[in-house]
Amino acid sequence: MYDFIPDNPYILLTPGPLSTSKGVRNALLRDWCTWDADYNEDIVQNIRRRLVALATAAPDGYTAVLMQGSGSFAVEACLGSAVPRDGKLLILHNGTYGRRMVKMAQVTGIDYAEYGLPETQTPTAAAVEEMLSRDLGITHVAFVHCETTTGILNPLEEISHAVKAHGRTLIVDAMSSFGGIPFNADELGIDFLISSANKCVQGVPGFAFVIAKRDVLMKCEGNARSLCLDLYDQWREMDASGKWRYTSPTHIVRAFNQALDELDAEGGILARYERYRLNHHVLIDGMRKLGFRTLLEDALQSPIITSFLYPSANFDFPAFYRQVKERGFVLYPGKISRADTFRIGNIGDVCPDDILRLTEVIADIMARHNIRVPR
Ligand SMILES: Cc1ncc(COP(=O)(O)O)c(C=O)c1O
Repeated sequence: MYDFIPDNPYILLTPGPLSTSKGVRNALLRDWCTWDADYNEDIVQNIRRRLVALATAAPDGYTAVLMQGSGSFAVEACLGSAVPRDGKLLILHNGTYGRRMVKMAQVTGIDYAEYGLPETQTPTAAAVEEMLSRDLGITHVAFVHCETTTGILNPLEEISHAVKAHGRTLIVDAMSSFGGIPFNADELGIDFLISSANKCVQGVPGFAFVIAKRDVLMKCEGNARSLCLDLYDQWREMDASGKWRYTSPTHIVRAFNQALDELDAEGGILARYERYRLNHHVLIDGMRKLGFRTLLEDALQSPIITSFLYPSANFDFPAFYRQVKERGFVLYPGKISRADTFRIGNIGDVCPDDILRLTEVIADIMARHNIRVPR
């Protein structure tokens, strides 16, 4: 049925879980003991040190806490543990993942304010400053760096500077950007940076992590609204011995260590960013030649994932998806409310040649199935 190799019948061009290397998948194939030093010290503590080194040039001020579950578990753990009972969280949102933070605040009883925008617009530093000046009760600000809903890249530097200029604690959901877009948490003053195993580090899904300023995290004892999602307690236990408070996803953790080795071997975050940018460039170029239009203007677009508008009102995306999958590539449906879109990811163990092949496959499918794109 598939054109592609049997090892993996298709390449995932999705926002994660994404295509992983054989090396990462092979690393899953043995068992580990959760109290032995060959797991806790050689793998868990090693990963924590490496994450901090990737996130900041000032590693002494930061620590990494690993958390069982998907990325949302770490976001909820972070919000629930960082914001004290008498604190107030400002949430900037322009997509699903920002809005999910609002839901988390509501469910866990965190006092919050919101600065919501349409999915094709980014927040401005001026508006954030205005809100922080007006509401002195706001203690923390959270936003998503790359809003994977559309692929929009929010202005990390400007917003971070605005939040820090007003002396507030800064929480950044860098789920789909950490490891794939270079930035320095220390320079930006980020207090909590959240990401997960199955995004740009290119591991497999099963845990997430928060890279936190040590002195800020130290003040979070007793804040948590949940026993399991207590970032402070998880950190205390993990820092003492490398042990997770509850069962750790051993195989996934080992595979993540391998993924970090492969990130180093590629040349680090900058080299990976360049590959993703090239993937993105080849994709945009090929799709535009076929007549497709992107949802976002280029200036707002991240190299992580791209939203394409349906070429016509009667475009049959499920059929298109099936045809493309049979030829070895998995695309992703759109997620926004105001336009019909589908998404193509650039991240994972995917190179520009793969993307070029994808655009050729799409051209062929369009010709065979008479899919027309008005010019
Ligand atoms: C920016 C961002 N935040 C949060 C999440 C939620 O992560 P998960 O689906 O792993 O819970 C995602 C998932 O893609 C994401 O892209």
